[in-house]
Amino acid sequence: MKKTNVMLMTAATALVLTGCLDGGTAGAGEKITYSKTSAEVYDQSCKKCHGDKAEGLKEKKTPALNDRQAGELELDLYDVKNGGTNQSSGTEHDVMEHNMKKLLAKGYNYDAKDMAEYIEKNFYIKPE
Ligand code: HEC
Repeated sequence: MKKTNVMLMTAATALVLTGCLDGGTAGAGEKITYSKTSAEVYDQSCKKCHGDKAEGLKEKKTPALNDRQAGELELDLYDVKNGGTNQSSGTEHDVMEHNMKKLLAKGYNYDAKDMAEYIEKNFYIKPE
């Protein structure tokens, strides 16, 4: 009985440790647990600059995010999250990269693919 308890404790401690060691910077293939869903992140942070429907806001000088599908959006999101290198879409997003660093520091982390799918599903407007 006592031995089982000790083993359970050890297992639990190991789980907690692996959770804490991952400071949100897990590399490819590793699973990150996000504290907020993409919907929550969009609502609580992106929305005030990019608009209720991701339509882009003139007064904030933000581009629309509702004019592209998830695949392309994912690359743009990947760019602004990883900064500078532009290995994917080849665009420059200095302002947004700067914003994103601050947002990440506040806990507004998200999975680029999941966020792209969220935005497409809820806001995407097909061009005529
Ligand atoms: C403080 C205002 C602000 C907030 C908050 C903000 N953005 Fe931005 N974002 C901008 C501005 C300004 C630009 C355009 C300049 C640039 O790309 O650097 C931009 C650009 C982008 C781009 C590039 C778009 C393109 O057309 O290539 C993406 C993607 C993006 N934002 C996603 C997000 C997401 C996702 C969030 C929420 C996690 C977010 N933004 C929150 C201001 C903001």
